[in-house]
Amino acid sequence: MKIIKVENRDQGVLEVAKVFMGKSAGDQDAPVGLATGATMLGVYEALATLGFKPGFHDAFALDEYEGLSADHPNSYARYLDEHFAKALGFAGQIHVPGQGDYVGTVGLEAFEASIDSLGPISVQLLGLGPNGHVAFNEPGSEPTSTTRRVELANETIAANRQYFDPPTSIPGFAFTQGLATISKAQSLIVAAFGEEKREALNQALDVTGAETPFSAIRNHQDLSLVTDLLN
Ligand code: GLP
Repeated sequence: MKIIKVENRDQGVLEVAKVFMGKSAGDQDAPVGLATGATMLGVYEALATLGFKPGFHDAFALDEYEGLSADHPNSYARYLDEHFAKALGFAGQIHVPGQGDYVGTVGLEAFEASIDSLGPISVQLLGLGPNGHVAFNEPGSEPTSTTRRVELANETIAANRQYFDPPTSIPGFAFTQGLATISKAQSLIVAAFGEEKREALNQALDVTGAETPFSAIRNHQDLSLVTDLLN
């Protein structure tokens, strides 16, 4: 693991954007992996600031809430359409588990198969949930897990309900790439900024086992961790 230490979030998102640009530039035919959440908003803004123009044709989302249409204001499909595709002029396809061709058990298998046929993903962006989840692989997720439907942890619902109106409308289930799916990407970039991530990051670095989803990817061949928590 390569640890890139930064002073603060602003510097951090810029570093993540630069590493992403470098890693995705190699093979323009390879798809990329996109993440969502507040941290990634900064990363996509930084990519725009740096003048990044996507040259790849396909992008895979990490996860999606169950039961939200692609144009629902809280769906990750919509988030990526606005903050990645429209913001950066990406005209290719964003594949989202649980949306479009990827609905139902068969659809989730098709999503995994699409990663295998179009991939490997050159570079996968990742955040860290306050409870240590990676995508929506909550504590307890197996390292061998693939794309599937999952129940969200109470901590995840507590952290993300603020984005829903009303807050109680947040779904209790979601679809996520598994830890084995994520591990197939050639490079991983993990972003963890701010005090609210300190405990999750410490556990991610020190504890091994299913209760620490990050431990499944900790020994990945090309993992960059960008953080302001290790100064
Ligand atoms: C959501 C996503 C995760 C992401 C996490 C962190 O839960 N499903 O993939 O890592 O948010 O989000 P934030 O950057 O808002 O802290």
